[in-house]
Amino acid sequence: MSYNLLKGKKGIIFGALDENSIAWKTAERAYDEGAEFVLTNAPIAMRMGGIKDLAAQTNSKLIPADATSMDDLNNLVEKSMEILGGTLDFVLHSIGMSVNVRKGKHYTDPKYDFTTKGWDVSAVSFHKTMNVLYNKQAMNEWGSIVALTYMAAQRVFPDYNDMADNKAYLESIARSFGYFFGRDHKVRVNTISQSPTPTTAGSGVKGFEGFLAYAEKMSPLGNATALECADYTISLFSDLTKKVTLQNLFHDGGFSNMGVSDAVMDRFTEA
Ligand SMILES: NC(=O)c1ccc[n+]([C@@H]2O[C@H](COP(=O)([O-])OP(=O)(O)OC[C@H]3O[C@@H](n4cnc5c(N)ncnc54)[C@H](O)[C@@H]3O)[C@@H](O)[C@H]2O)c1
Repeated sequence: MSYNLLKGKKGIIFGALDENSIAWKTAERAYDEGAEFVLTNAPIAMRMGGIKDLAAQTNSKLIPADATSMDDLNNLVEKSMEILGGTLDFVLHSIGMSVNVRKGKHYTDPKYDFTTKGWDVSAVSFHKTMNVLYNKQAMNEWGSIVALTYMAAQRVFPDYNDMADNKAYLESIARSFGYFFGRDHKVRVNTISQSPTPTTAGSGVKGFEGFLAYAEKMSPLGNATALECADYTISLFSDLTKKVTLQNLFHDGGFSNMGVSDAVMDRFTEA
């Protein structure tokens, strides 16, 4: 269902790789709600994925950008404003990657070059993106910037590896940069802490299926899907949430406030 919540709004959406991606669903929902936007992803992901289909479907342009490259980000923001005919109302950072996870390195014995790379891609890229948006004065007043995160930033999930540390850093950047963006440009900055979701990034976590099933059984409302995450993101881009900023917002069916559920206890009390 569409409510025209983003009618007349312009933005940039990072991170749509395939139709399972949270960013993909968000682009579809943003289009439904009347937004115009540019889609971006790392050049290699653009060559591999079906993002061109998404661009055609949402009537949007594609601009490749490695989110760790200031040159790419400067080019992306300048070109986006040209294409969209002005400054922006919303930006979605939906980017995550750990080289240690990909290469099967254990948390207790990572390769630190991999740690640095994953931290740059997954966390510092958010600072770099906001640096460019802030210094180019690319955001409209009452604009909204959202990044996606996971609860391993607060609690221990052993197989989430160094992504836990990257997410903690990402959430801190949202608060710290969000202060300056709010004070100087009336722009809000938040992170959404999403349930485990079957996407390329999510499924890369060791034991993901078990993780998904456990979270489902622990959450009174069940896991939040990628589409539901997209809906929540749209609400944060809309004018209905203008004074929400510097927050880490849990979108997880209640998981983050649970101790234990009947469904999980039943598994341990079975005869
Ligand atoms: N899937 C989950 O279980 C889950 C749960 C909570 C939070 N998140 C977060 O949601 C976000 C989106 O992930 P997703 O689950 O939709 O998976 P996804 O794999 O579809 O998306 C990750 C995206 O990051 C992009 N990316 C990687 N390196 C990049 C770079 N250098 N420059 C630009 N883009 C780059 C990838 O190309 C991909 O499009 C990530 O921040 C992820 O950590 C995912």
